[in-house]
Amino acid sequence: MAPNENTTDDTKLILRERQDNEGWYKLSFDNGYIGQYPYVWLKDNCRCSACYQPSAWQRTSHIADLDPEIIPQSDDITDGGAGFRIIWPGGHRSDFLAEWLNRQRFSETEKDFVDGQKLAIWGAEMDTAVEKFDFNKIVTSDTELYNWLCILGSKGMAMVQGAPLKVGAVGQLAKRVAYLRTTVYGDTFQVFSKLDASSVAFTPKSLGLHIDQLFYEYIPGIQMLHCIEQAGEGGENQFVDGVNIAEQLKRDYPEEYQILRSTQIDFRDAGDDHLRYHLKSRRPMIQYDRHGNFMCINYSDHCRSTELSLPVDQVKKLYKAIKVFNSVMYRPENVFTHRMEPGEIMTFSNGRVMHGRSAFKLTSGSGSRHLEGGYFDWDEAKSTLRVLRENLFGDKRL
Ligand code: OGA
Ligand code: ZN
Repeated sequence: MAPNENTTDDTKLILRERQDNEGWYKLSFDNGYIGQYPYVWLKDNCRCSACYQPSAWQRTSHIADLDPEIIPQSDDITDGGAGFRIIWPGGHRSDFLAEWLNRQRFSETEKDFVDGQKLAIWGAEMDTAVEKFDFNKIVTSDTELYNWLCILGSKGMAMVQGAPLKVGAVGQLAKRVAYLRTTVYGDTFQVFSKLDASSVAFTPKSLGLHIDQLFYEYIPGIQMLHCIEQAGEGGENQFVDGVNIAEQLKRDYPEEYQILRSTQIDFRDAGDDHLRYHLKSRRPMIQYDRHGNFMCINYSDHCRSTELSLPVDQVKKLYKAIKVFNSVMYRPENVFTHRMEPGEIMTFSNGRVMHGRSAFKLTSGSGSRHLEGGYFDWDEAKSTLRVLRENLFGDKRL
């Protein structure tokens, strides 16, 4: 379907001022907004059929034909302020909608609603505060789907209840968003005690708090763990908000925090599951983006490699820093513990929320503990959020 970037917004342009020395227009709108619009940018974003393919939402003009020094020949406010027309040297005409121009704002840090969502930090109180969603409602209602994805964006964690007690539910959820992120463990993975387990997750042993699949360069964005059958004894899960841990480390252990931000750690996974594999990556344990915003935590004891790409005299210091990270992570006020009931799906942002489980036992009369896990990625989750926002609330595209 062709996206429609024209809306019924009736913002009007009331004043245009050429500022040739700067190479831009100063445009004033009837809503009070005044902005600068570089000539080269206007030419590059000409909406005429020769320069732009509206059904694809993509530019058809080429940068090779664009003159960064271009200066308009003439201009006009059209349709009583609803439009702005520029005639370029040579006669090419660009018509812009005022309300579209009003939405194009130049700022290095401005993000749309989805990318700019605030992270709500949490700890052990999630025990009662965790947001709950109904499986069938997510499957049938776009509003529920939207609310669930919003919470995954802000808190990074939500519980889905009422899923059928059989394999396939995580695939159904992923399908509502886009599709599953396949890994070497398959489209989805079955967590139960297996002989010759390809992961320690597939044993009855305890699993320390960790992020999944850190041996990938590009790790899965969102994890779903669906409890189909619970163990007779044990097998409860722990969840910890990585944003919370990064902040506590920075405050309480600045030296160790710096070591974990700056030291590259090797992760590795080799074996035979869906196929034979040997994956490797190298990343610091705490990562921020170039604006200093939290990006991810890269913590997994069981997938840390034997390789260590650092000078040998720094090894002991690194281990001490990792141990400090671990002790902060396990502070009781940080850990949300939950024993999943069959039919529950814990969904959480992999890369932000660390998860673990205690050892379990299969008692007489009980079946085997069985979880189905699966992933989908943030790119598609954010894309779906934008589309839903447009459908549900008439949110405008840039
Ligand atoms: C995993 C995992 C948790 C559990 O499979 O990576 O963390 O509860 N499983 O078994
Ligand atoms: Zn895991």
